[in-house]
Amino acid sequence: MKYLTYALAKGRLTDKALNLFARIGLVSEETRADILGESRKLIYTDEEKKSRFFLAKASDVPTYVEYGAADIGVAGADTLLEEKRDLYQTVDLNFGRCRIVVAGPPEMESKYIKCGALRVATKYPAIAADYFYQTSKRAVEIIKLNGSVELGPMVGLSDVIVDIVETGSTLKENGLVILDEICVVSARLAVNRVSMKMEYKRVADVIQALKTET
Ligand code: PRP
Repeated sequence: MKYLTYALAKGRLTDKALNLFARIGLVSEETRADILGESRKLIYTDEEKKSRFFLAKASDVPTYVEYGAADIGVAGADTLLEEKRDLYQTVDLNFGRCRIVVAGPPEMESKYIKCGALRVATKYPAIAADYFYQTSKRAVEIIKLNGSVELGPMVGLSDVIVDIVETGSTLKENGLVILDEICVVSARLAVNRVSMKMEYKRVADVIQALKTET
């Protein structure tokens, strides 16, 4: 039997995804503990379940799935929206819920809609560009950052940010406020298009088990 390969987003979604997979018997307890441990190993093979797992940077998960390097991936809907890869988005896993927002210093509240040359720092340049085009039919200057996006307005790099907010504490601790909400996102299961056909029974069973559990 072929091994099914899973790519899991590294970070805030990892342990929730693995706990869910363990609950429905997709990963053995031993492999789950192994992946969450300290090892620097990149790929974990679960012989019992005939599955392989690897952790990847969240924004790379859709790439692995589109190219078939992973049959199945778990990543946030924010990442899937941003990357626009050709894959099946199947189950809403109902965890990792957060919002994609425009945020900035309180004084931007009345200004950012009209502000002529708006600079936007973000990890999500495509989502930010779509949002500003749709809401105000204008191009803004998007500055791509790879993390700690809240720094943008604080150090004078940008006027506002487009970023995800979960608890809101990062914004609060840094004196920033939400200016607008773009959408709500959560973790999704993504499936490679060929795997969906070639491994239909196994993939369908996974999807069904996840739908029942979530
Ligand atoms: C995300 C996001 C915010 C923060 C929001 O960053 O970009 O910075 O979490 O979470 P909160 O509303 O619960 O405070 P992440 O922790 O993924 O790290 P990064 O900034 O390095 O991308």
